[in-house]
Amino acid sequence: MRLRAATAGDQGLLARATLGNVNWNGPRFTADQVRTNPHLWHYVACWPGPGDFGYVAEDEAGAWIGVAWLKHFSSRTPGYGFIDETIPELSIHVIASQRGRGAGTRLLVAVIDEARRRLLPGISLSVEPGNPALRLYTRHGFAPAGPDHDASTCLLAFGA
Ligand SMILES: CC(C)(COP(=O)(O)OP(=O)(O)OC[C@H]1O[C@@H](n2cnc3c(N)ncnc32)[C@H](O)[C@@H]1OP(=O)(O)O)[C@@H](O)C(=O)NCCC(=O)NCCS
Repeated sequence: MRLRAATAGDQGLLARATLGNVNWNGPRFTADQVRTNPHLWHYVACWPGPGDFGYVAEDEAGAWIGVAWLKHFSSRTPGYGFIDETIPELSIHVIASQRGRGAGTRLLVAVIDEARRRLLPGISLSVEPGNPALRLYTRHGFAPAGPDHDASTCLLAFGA
């Protein structure tokens, strides 16, 4: 497995990852519903905006295994894990056949390392209750940061 930087040309891949993420617990949304729902499609549309970046994990043949990307949202059109405009929100997805083999960890560590290198104040994310992904995030320092410490919004804050 190798990582490469995600680019604007990866929008189709981000769309498939977003569809997989909203369906993490079984089918709920179709690809069309993701494309026509502005609260979902803005994770894909116009990416990357200023300061956004991400990584794609590929197998030896160059087929994608997973992707992790950061997107800055505005307070007018916040993502589900929005904290403020200086803190980008993480999306991460690994294809079902490759989960539990370390790809997600490699993607997450790469994003965290690059965010630190860029001196970002932190990374936020949104995770639904019961998603085992929360264990991965907790292991890497994310902590509940939503209203009343709601665990569905988590923040990894980079100290000074
Ligand atoms: C979450 C996800 C990106 C992790 O990628 P991964 O390659 O499976 O992760 P790793 O192999 O590096 O680490 C495994 C950890 O991922 C988490 N995980 C989440 N869903 C998992 C799954 N279906 N299978 C295995 N691990 C999963 C667990 O925390 C696990 O660690 P644990 O066994 O100690 O609890 C991936 O499982 C995935 O795409 N899940 C479905 C979509 C999703 O839920 N995305 C996140 C939305 S907030």
